[in-house]
Amino acid sequence: MRKFLLMLLATLVSGSAIAAGGYANLMDAEVDVSDEASLQRGAQLFANNCMGCHSAKFVRWNALPEELGVSMELIEENLIWDSGYQAGDVMTAAMRSEDASAWFGAAAPDLSLTARSRGADWVYTYLNSFYVDPDASIGWNNTLLQNASMPHVLWQLQGVPQPVYEGSGDALKVAEIVVPEGQQGAMTEAEYQQATKDITNFMAFMAEPVRAKRQELGVWVIGFLLVFTILAYFMKREYWRDVH
Ligand code: HEC
Repeated sequence: MRKFLLMLLATLVSGSAIAAGGYANLMDAEVDVSDEASLQRGAQLFANNCMGCHSAKFVRWNALPEELGVSMELIEENLIWDSGYQAGDVMTAAMRSEDASAWFGAAAPDLSLTARSRGADWVYTYLNSFYVDPDASIGWNNTLLQNASMPHVLWQLQGVPQPVYEGSGDALKVAEIVVPEGQQGAMTEAEYQQATKDITNFMAFMAEPVRAKRQELGVWVIGFLLVFTILAYFMKREYWRDVH
């Protein structure tokens, strides 16, 4: 029993360690998939700004109401652009991937699991690392994913981030990105960070939709195991009393 408990504990701990990930120099996305308000804002931003190009094929639209605590009507009215939507459809991009590769040089990858494969902090940092680059074919670049073929789709919210270079020649690199006075977007810096946190939070939630529930369940499972262990101990004492 002790061994089994230890093994179980080890599995639980290693599971969460993988989910947490670990990268240097990334911004902290402070993911909280039990924060329904953040998930709702994130879902809306995601559907409106990302699904022109990206899909999330492992996620069904009709799974969202229960998970996000909103009605299906609200989802249909606000998030689903596809007029041919049928119950049970997955979150598919408006743009065909062939078009995306033709226009941007690369197909926009499916984002269902990106928060897990790249890590949530990576996604959050990526959304805060775009800058104007006249030398790039699409006019934008990204410090985290150099020469990314994705434009800065949220520039109207963030503004137009300019690079501050450091070094020269081959060692030339972007040391900092700043949105200059007069080129700000609809949001303040803090608001933009919150918005990109919400998107990241929603992507973390998509990558593991059962996570919020499992965390809740985990507490009960451990509680049950504790109670069970104590019971088992007293039962053993009771059974062996007459033998000794
Ligand atoms: C105009 C089309 C377009 C839109 C809109 C768009 N993307 Fe992208 N995105 C791309 C393309 C193309 C790539 C591939 C970039 C590359 O690999 O060079 C990409 C790559 C990414 C990646 C990196 C994936 C990986 O593992 O390499 C992330 C994360 C991402 N996009 C998130 C988003 C989010 C979040 C939004 C909405 C705020 C969004 N994208 C909107 C086209 C788009």
